[in-house]
Amino acid sequence: MNDDLINKINELKKKHNTVILVHNYQLPEIQDIADFLGDSLELAIKASTTTAENIVFCGVDFMAESAKILNPDKNVIIPDKYAKCPMAHMVKTDDLIKLKKTYQEAEVVSYINTTAETKAITDICCTSANSVKVVKSRKSDKIIFVPDQHLGRYVQRLTPEKQLIIWPGLCPIHHRIRKNDILTLKEKHPKAEVLVHPECRLEVIDIADHALSTNGMVNYAKKSDSLEFIIGTEKELCYRLKNENPNKEFYSIKSAICPNMKKITLDKVLNSLKTLEPKVILLEEIMMKAKVPLKKMIEISRGD
Ligand code: 13P
Ligand code: SF4
Repeated sequence: MNDDLINKINELKKKHNTVILVHNYQLPEIQDIADFLGDSLELAIKASTTTAENIVFCGVDFMAESAKILNPDKNVIIPDKYAKCPMAHMVKTDDLIKLKKTYQEAEVVSYINTTAETKAITDICCTSANSVKVVKSRKSDKIIFVPDQHLGRYVQRLTPEKQLIIWPGLCPIHHRIRKNDILTLKEKHPKAEVLVHPECRLEVIDIADHALSTNGMVNYAKKSDSLEFIIGTEKELCYRLKNENPNKEFYSIKSAICPNMKKITLDKVLNSLKTLEPKVILLEEIMMKAKVPLKKMIEISRGD
């Protein structure tokens, strides 16, 4: 059944000169059809360098929007237009404009998990892989950091020379991961190293061995001598981790599921390849403005 779908997907992909970009939280069968599988930073970089005519983005809205902003002349298609990251919608641009007026000397650092409209009034973007580096790179001592409060607190701790004005947004999935979830797994698997995402609460980060982006976890698990890991992020990352490290064990938090990431299915990908829909459509003016902070971030991350 899936084989049939996958054959058709591969056929149409070639026919339409399409690249399939897939985020690490996608369903296993979607990870398996990826041309590139990665975290937000890696996928933004791939999107900025691809020569394919069409990009099918298997992820959530802000990721597909970033790909479109970086490739305004290409078709960027998200197989389910309702696959939206709730955190990205926690910033109202009017409120951000007001905050910018209050702190005129501050620079705005926006997590890539923001809408194109927020990016358009941002100085520089960041992802979980480069947030500390991006904040350190700013001339201003004051930074308005949107929208993730947990990532903001984590970054503030590592950049004491800066004053972060932190937006009160959060990722509902990482916010729900509690210290006890990790401690319970640690009791069962005392030898396991604990890797968590910096979107988690500080109390969770404090009991982890490392706070890393999803690709950071993939790279770390590969090179570490440990054979067991507790993974404090969306559970599907463990599919990739196990695939790439079959001799190691990965213990996920079973309830850490991002329902929006799971909206993309093989059927929908096939449908997108048949119709080249639904396309990401953004206002020209917003795209031009939003490209600046994204490009600045990619520039800073080169060579990482
Ligand atoms: P990464 O950039 O680490 O893949 O994270 C994206 C995300 O949405 C985390 O919830
Ligand atoms: Fe957004 Fe959280 Fe889902 Fe990541 S896991 S896409 S931050 S809701």
